[in-house]
Amino acid sequence: MEHDVLIEDTGEHFLCRDSESVLNGMARLCRKGIPVGCRGGGCGICKVRVTAGEHRCRAMSKAHVSDTERACGVALACCIEACSDLRLQVLGKMQRAVCRSAADAASVRKSN
Ligand code: FES
Repeated sequence: MEHDVLIEDTGEHFLCRDSESVLNGMARLCRKGIPVGCRGGGCGICKVRVTAGEHRCRAMSKAHVSDTERACGVALACCIEACSDLRLQVLGKMQRAVCRSAADAASVRKSN
């Protein structure tokens, strides 16, 4: 089953199968700005905040996501799987890369 995932920061949507990580679904947007690091919870580059929807979460290093953050919906996109449609915000390095990349893509569309 596929779920719709909305990146609130850019308004972009992507589909995510319930058996894959949210990061893998996001990577199919095929934008070079999406940082895909270790894909295993080790580097912390794929930090997001899930603001709506249900997701499963694998173990995450507290070095990257504290218990307090986790209680507020913060997770590593490579460690979560969607169980319903999701809305999320990108954080930290992921936010800078995704938002800059979306702005660049919009600029190219305008110039064409
Ligand atoms: S890609 Fe490294 S923690 Fe997610």
